[in-house]
Amino acid sequence: SNTFSGLFEGQNVITLQQVDSTNEYLKKELSKSRPLTEGTVILAVHQFAGRGQQGATWFSEPGRNLTFSLLLMPTFLNPKHQFRLTVAISLAIARWLEQLLSVGVKIKWPNDIYVGDRKIGGVLIENILKGKAWKSAIVGIGINVNQTDFPAAIRRRITSIKDYLREDSDIGELLTALCRSIEREYLALKQGQTEAQLASYKQRLYRLGERHPFLVSGVKVDGILLDITETGRLQIDFGGHVADFDIKEVAFVI
Ligand code: BTN
Repeated sequence: SNTFSGLFEGQNVITLQQVDSTNEYLKKELSKSRPLTEGTVILAVHQFAGRGQQGATWFSEPGRNLTFSLLLMPTFLNPKHQFRLTVAISLAIARWLEQLLSVGVKIKWPNDIYVGDRKIGGVLIENILKGKAWKSAIVGIGINVNQTDFPAAIRRRITSIKDYLREDSDIGELLTALCRSIEREYLALKQGQTEAQLASYKQRLYRLGERHPFLVSGVKVDGILLDITETGRLQIDFGGHVADFDIKEVAFVI
C-alpha cells in the first residue's frame, strides 16, 4: 500500500521474497517489453546475488536491509549528462538519512553513502539507451538497515541504520520515505536545478579538500581531492599537477 502523489503516482511496488538481483529482475521485465510505469519499485526480501559497482558483489542479510530497484525514465536528460542523475539520487539518499539519523551524511564519489568513515549504502544505476536517447534508468539502491553483524574484516568500515537508532526499523516505512525524497530530487532535476544539486552534493563530498591516498593505474599516490567536474570526473591535485579521472581510472585507498 505504497502510494505517492505527483510523479510516482500510484507507485507500483513489487515485493519479491527471493531474487538474484533486483536490477537484473527489472532489466529482464523491461526486455519482455512489459509496459512498466516510471516509479515502479522492485523490492527484495532476500537478494542472493546482489551486484555492486565495478563488478563487486552486494551482500545483504535476508530480510534485514533495504535492497530495491527503482525504474526511472529521465528522457529529459541528455545521456551525456547522466552524472546529474547520480547526483540527484545520492543527494536524495543523503538528505533522507540525515533526517532519519540526525547526523551528517557523506557521499563518497561517485555514489557511495557514508556516515563518518563507514559505508551505510550504495547505488548502482544502469542506463538503458535507445540509440542516442535515454529509454530508462534502473536505479538500484542498497541500504544497511537492521543488520549489525558484518564480516570482521570490514566491520570498522561499514555501518547500518540500527547502529544509530539502536532498534529495528520497518523496511516498508523506510522505502516509502526514501522514495519520497528521491521523487523530490528527481523533480528538481527535471526542473533544471542541476547547479544547486551539484553544490549540495559537493557539500557532502567525502574527503573533499583533504589529502588522501589514491590508486591510479595500479600506483598508490597521495593527492588532494579538488573537485568534481561537470561530467562527474574526480579532480585530484597531485602537488601542482591536476588531473581528472572516471571511476575505472581511480580508486580511494582505504
Ligand atoms: C555499490 O555500493 O557498489 C552499489 C551497491 C548497489 C546494491 C543494490 S541492492 C539493490 C540493487 N540490486 C543489485 O543487484 N544491486 C543494487
